[in-house]
Formats: sequence, structure tokens, C-alpha cells
Amino acid sequence: MARTLTFSIFRYDPCAPAVAPRMQEYRLEQLDGMTLFIALNKLREEQDPTLRFDFVCRAAICGSCGMLVNGRPALACKTLTSALPDRITLHPLPVFRLLGDLTVDTGSWFRQMARRTGSWVHSGKPFNPHAPEERMDNELANEIYELDRCIECGCCVAGCGTANIREDFVGAAGLLRIARFMLDPRDERTPRQFFEVVGTDEGIFGCLGLMACQDLCPKQIPLQQQLAYVRRKMARAAFEKDTARA
Ligand code: SF4
Ligand code: FES
Repeated sequence: MARTLTFSIFRYDPCAPAVAPRMQEYRLEQLDGMTLFIALNKLREEQDPTLRFDFVCRAAICGSCGMLVNGRPALACKTLTSALPDRITLHPLPVFRLLGDLTVDTGSWFRQMARRTGSWVHSGKPFNPHAPEERMDNELANEIYELDRCIECGCCVAGCGTANIREDFVGAAGLLRIARFMLDPRDERTPRQFFEVVGTDEGIFGCLGLMACQDLCPKQIPLQQQLAYVRRKMARAAFEKDTARA
């Protein structure tokens, strides 16, 4: 027999502050293979067109549908309702600016993080559009690709103890970005220059090592391994002179 799900969903519109935040209940019959993506769309189409939430790809690719599912950051399009209890509580991800109901502004957060970490290959070489493509060792290319799989969903940031208490923390996603460019032989930044960016309490030394980021990452990126790599490099850079890259 079909299961009836009860959704308790956070409702608030920051543009209408006179209406206090509240939890609103909806009931819905579970369908075979139903994800939270399908459930929320059914609720919006059949019961409440004012309900706000974000989706683009419904395939764990775009990173838009992160939310707190029974208190835990997760992608709604990747979460089957059959894996959840009858009562499902949904909140927007913390840390990010709330736009309304379950919709948060992860874009601005990731943009400032990209600027802060200098998320591009820093090279003094003049650009030659006719130059042949540079070769890279296959193993290294795969290692870099592994770290480039981040979809910027924000689940690791929302689940991070430090990010929840200090808004200047660069987060696991930011530290992952640093690890990615440290690995890239085309990036000419020295460990000391990376240290200037993340060798602080707002960077790698603010991480409490609680490991929620890795547990929550829907792409199973080995975040703790990368954070340990950045921590080791930055600890060494703190004691070394600005020398050529190790
Ligand atoms: Fe999402 Fe994982 Fe990227 Fe964090 S590292 S933003 S959890 S994909
Ligand atoms: Fe794109 Fe969920 S809708 S990740």
C-alpha cells in the first residue's frame, strides 16, 4: 500500500519580513522511485504554487538542489523518499543567504570563494592561441580531474561546524579548490603565496577536523585527504622561505 508522507517545510520570504518564518505541513502519497525532487514538484504543482526551491538538472550535476533533509545537508534530486521516514522536515541550507523557503544563494558564496582563492591557473606565460596543447601526465591529469568534480552544491559548507560559526571561513570547497591548483604544474604560485591565501584561521587552520564535509559530499570527493594535503603544505610553507615549488 502506498505510504503517505508528511512534509514539514520551512517557509519564509526575506522580502516580506512582516510574515514570520514558519513550518508548513503538506501530505503526499509516495510513488515508486520518488525523489524529493519529484515530491517537491508535485507539491508545488498540485498544492502550493508559492513554494520556493531550486532545481536545474535533477541528476546531481548542477548543485542547485541542496537543502537540509531531516537536519542533514543533501541533494533533493538524489534523495529517494523511500530512504526517509514518513515525516520529512526540509529547511534551507544554513551559511548561505536565504532567498526564500528552500532557496539559497550559493552562487554569490562560490563566486567570492573563487575570487578569494584565485581559482584559475596563475601563469606569467603570454597566451599563444596557436601553441600546441601542452601534455600532462595521465595520472596527474586524473588526480586534478578528481578534484574538479565539485558541483558547488554547498552541502560540505552547510554541514561544517566552522563555516556555521564564522562567515569568513573558506570552507572545504574552497580548500579543495586550493588543493586542485597546488597540484596543477601550470600554476606558478609558490607554497608561500598559497599560504597568504589560506594559511590562516579563515583558511586551513580553521578546520576542526570534524569530517562532516566528507560524509556529506554527494560526489564522494575525498575532502579530508585534500584538506590534510593543504594543511601539510601550509604548515611547511609557514617555516620555509619562498622557494620554488616542491
Ligand atoms: Fe558539494 Fe562536495 Fe563540492 Fe562540497 S565538495 S560543494 S559537498 S560537491
Ligand atoms: Fe541539479 Fe539536484 S537538480 S544537482
